[in-house]
Amino acid sequence: MALRFYIETYGCQMNVADTELMGGILDRGGHVRVEEPGEADVLIVNTCAIRDHAEQRVIGRIGELNRHKLERANVRLGVAGCVAKELGQELLDRASYVDFVVGPDSYRHLPEILDRVGDGDRVVYDRFNRSEGYEDLEPLRLERFAAWITIMRGCDKFCSYCIVPFTRGREKCRSLEGIVAEVCRAVEGGAKEVTLLGQNVNSYRDAGRDFPELLEAVAAVEGLARLRFTTSHPWDFTERLVEVIASHDNVMKHVHLPVQSGSDRILARMRREHTAAWYRERIDMLRRAVPDCALSTDIIVGFPGETEADFRATYELMEDVRYNSAYVFLYSPRPHTPAAELTEGRVPRAVAVERLEALNGLQRAIGASYLMAKVGGTEEVLVQGPARRGEGRLTGWTEHRETVVFPGGSAMVGRILPVEIEALAGITLHGRPTRAVPDGRPVLEIPVLAG
Ligand code: SAH
Ligand code: SF4
Ligand code: F3S
Repeated sequence: MALRFYIETYGCQMNVADTELMGGILDRGGHVRVEEPGEADVLIVNTCAIRDHAEQRVIGRIGELNRHKLERANVRLGVAGCVAKELGQELLDRASYVDFVVGPDSYRHLPEILDRVGDGDRVVYDRFNRSEGYEDLEPLRLERFAAWITIMRGCDKFCSYCIVPFTRGREKCRSLEGIVAEVCRAVEGGAKEVTLLGQNVNSYRDAGRDFPELLEAVAAVEGLARLRFTTSHPWDFTERLVEVIASHDNVMKHVHLPVQSGSDRILARMRREHTAAWYRERIDMLRRAVPDCALSTDIIVGFPGETEADFRATYELMEDVRYNSAYVFLYSPRPHTPAAELTEGRVPRAVAVERLEALNGLQRAIGASYLMAKVGGTEEVLVQGPARRGEGRLTGWTEHRETVVFPGGSAMVGRILPVEIEALAGITLHGRPTRAVPDGRPVLEIPVLAG
């Protein structure tokens, strides 16, 4: 029987890609995706377990969605993703309204799971499967012009604070040929931008081929205008990778390179396998080869043992590197992780919050200065669609992934157009399409001006 399914997604881009994967599996099974929970026979929450707050939020949301089960007969509710793997059977024990739990390696079983819950069973499919790479499955994409393609699953790094190796399992990589073929299909389907995804994309390996080789092979795909990748680990960030970024016009000059802390003592306790100086050298190497490269990072404050001096080192690193953007998190102890056992030197919440705010304040000022510097210049913008507010206005994003709003019509959607930047409001750039040639580079497409 054809069922209508609704999937709500939390967490990282890998979860977004997995939602598209589940959509593809269910679509192939004859089921139909709907946009509203009120229209669905099957509700799935694709969850994140990275911090306790994230986990509590999704657990609350699952409780809220139970409303649909109470209102309509035969509605089924399932939990997917990292909390599904972390808690498994416990979710069924704790919440009588949860019908199924499906971990990140079991999505291929979804049609069978729906059959079983349709018969009234409550089931848990949460085993790791080392051979499941979802190689041959076509995702049901949520975005028209941007495709997210998972190239590797899991993580072998075991940073001391992180739950991911326990929810996603050990690292496994897809075949280079399979990835290139999927990129070709995405581009034929209208994607202008592809992002290669993994917890550590640059530790990718397939039959002796490494990440720079994969990146080169994907960059060579005919018609692919923009190529991105995330997340990179500093440990695997090599000179050869920088060369590939520098030498391909369609590889976007934007790198997300989490540092987590600027203090060597804390980095060692985090088991990050590198020092702050080593990280800074990676950044210098990248900037020497690609001076206009945008940089973003992740930072954890309040890790057990973090002193005022450790925090100063992180603050100074941020001042020196000058990231375009940074995600700063409060440390959250997670089950299974060794850091959760560290009882010495716990940082009081109020102190950690103060540190978080100080870093966010510093970053806001640095981020704004990069954006201000763009006013008066011209940016190539991938046009996504109508802006949320304002008739006749479109939105899109730049090479560095900044949002731009400008006047235009539907003929521009899905194109890459030069936009002259006139103003900055908050973190949004405002401008108008132009025929000017940015930085002497050829204009990819001539704008069709609205009206
Ligand atoms: N694989 C990526 C990160 C994945 S998780 C990498 O290593 O860079 C995204 C971010 O969440 C991490 O970079 C880290 O900053 C943060 N994070 C992970 N575990 C956390 C925890 N226990 N508490 C707070 N933040 C955490
Ligand atoms: Fe977590 Fe570290 Fe793996 Fe990133 S590299 S997913 S932070 S264990
Ligand atoms: Fe969250 Fe799992 Fe991603 S814990 S960050 S959804 S890998």
